[in-house]
Amino acid sequence: MTQIDLVQRLNSADPGWTINADVIVIGSGIAGLTAALSARDKGLSVLLLTKDVLSTGSTSWAQGGIAAALGPGDSPDQHFQDTLEAGAGLCDQESVRILVQEGPAAVKRLINLGATFDLDSSGNVALTREGGHRRDRIAHAGGDATGAEISRALVAKVLADPKVRIFEHALVLDLLKDKNERVCGVTLHVMGKGKIDGVGAALARAVVLATGGLGAVFQQTTNPLVATGDGVALALRAGATVADLEFVQFHPTVLWSGSDSRGSQPLISEAIRGEGAILRNINGEAFMSSIHPMKDLAPRDVVAHAVHEEIIKSGKPFVYLDGTKLGENIWLQRFPNILSSCRKIGIDPLVDLIPVVPAAHYASGGVVSDMTGKTDIPGLFAVGECANTGVHGANRLASNSLLEGLVVAERVANHLTDLPKQSEPLIENIPTNLIDGKVRKDITETTTTGAGAVRNATGLNKTIDKLSELAKKTTKLSSTQSWEATNLLTVSSFLSNAALRREESRGSHWRSDFPERNDSRWLVRIQGKLNEGKLELSEKTIGKN
Ligand code: SIN
Repeated sequence: MTQIDLVQRLNSADPGWTINADVIVIGSGIAGLTAALSARDKGLSVLLLTKDVLSTGSTSWAQGGIAAALGPGDSPDQHFQDTLEAGAGLCDQESVRILVQEGPAAVKRLINLGATFDLDSSGNVALTREGGHRRDRIAHAGGDATGAEISRALVAKVLADPKVRIFEHALVLDLLKDKNERVCGVTLHVMGKGKIDGVGAALARAVVLATGGLGAVFQQTTNPLVATGDGVALALRAGATVADLEFVQFHPTVLWSGSDSRGSQPLISEAIRGEGAILRNINGEAFMSSIHPMKDLAPRDVVAHAVHEEIIKSGKPFVYLDGTKLGENIWLQRFPNILSSCRKIGIDPLVDLIPVVPAAHYASGGVVSDMTGKTDIPGLFAVGECANTGVHGANRLASNSLLEGLVVAERVANHLTDLPKQSEPLIENIPTNLIDGKVRKDITETTTTGAGAVRNATGLNKTIDKLSELAKKTTKLSSTQSWEATNLLTVSSFLSNAALRREESRGSHWRSDFPERNDSRWLVRIQGKLNEGKLELSEKTIGKN
């Protein structure tokens, strides 16, 4: 493997201020907010750090919903089976079992806490279907604004609690450890006012990473552009194990806004297919019916793959989503926001076909942790998209991510009750280099070209060589741009090397030079650590499922 020189610690000014809390939670999506509230329920003081403002991030953007076996005839067992099937042989069965069994009660607690879900005509939570689910089990809110409603309810609770101290515009740089290698805080940069401004240190008895995804490492993503894989990169720098980064899920239906379009792209929820919309190729043919028995509601990787093949076959940069049969009422009540995004660009989904294309959506991999958030570094927990509990395997089942964030974040708090006393951090500020912020565009371009939806050895090797060149474009100047570019380079290097190593196609990892799934060789997890700036990847065999 071409070695890429990665940064082992982010360069920054010395911390100019220090604050303390029992627990630091980094991130304000469903996982971070729930972890903060659950820690408060245990009587712990919390410092909640968020890179932008509390209500931004992937959770608020989630359209489809949250999956749980709540409907008549459904059961955690069926949810379990659908999750394993989507995960293509790499799910951790024990983790999935916990998720599906505890899911329904966790969603009910979210409702009791104040989140308002859409109801059916009998007054029960209305449920729809998404790809890979054999039952209607997706609860939604505000039609297609599920994440925004969940975020509203959780943010209101957090804001009402004076023992949750909140820093917005706070970019966490690195973890701090004590002499026993236990995590005891973070260094961070805050764009604040008064004393809390610039680089500081926050000290705590435990740190919970809930930093979300890494979609911004690609040129087109459904994620907000703050999703730069910060949690994964800083955990690697601190010596934690990361796994499954090659499994980046591409959502099959993202609004096509032109071939030159870059950055965050508007999602067209899978729930629209759950209500009856179908994919059509450029000739108007409904191509999914010949590809999978679940047709347009096949698992997401299957649909994304089929869309990609159609795009290659036709030479046109998109396929169509046909929602013209849904009728005005469904569009207005269930998908008001998507309807308005389409209409803004002159497409009326009531009568027009919607041009769609796959784009990077969800990282199934992340910081290796268990269903209590525990990582392999004492004092460090990880929850939500930045974590890798093994629940998603090679391809996350639709709407399981909000559920995972909720269930695991509640469980984390149960393990924060016997924390040791606050310990002293060892701060050694040796100047290091950072990746020049100007290189960000090159990182996303090379990642997308060689390690995007379809990969092969030639493309991946070129990407890795290019990343290795980009790793030399350094600066001593600390800035948000250079910290983020450094994190992106670390994440892309891991992802590309893992993708090169996995010589098969499975779930959301698709190799054109190894088009088959190979269970005799690849029923393994590719995991790795960062050691003195070098990535060390290895394989961990997992049980058959
Ligand atoms: C969607 O609404 O299609 C996205 C749901 C998900 O990613 O789970």
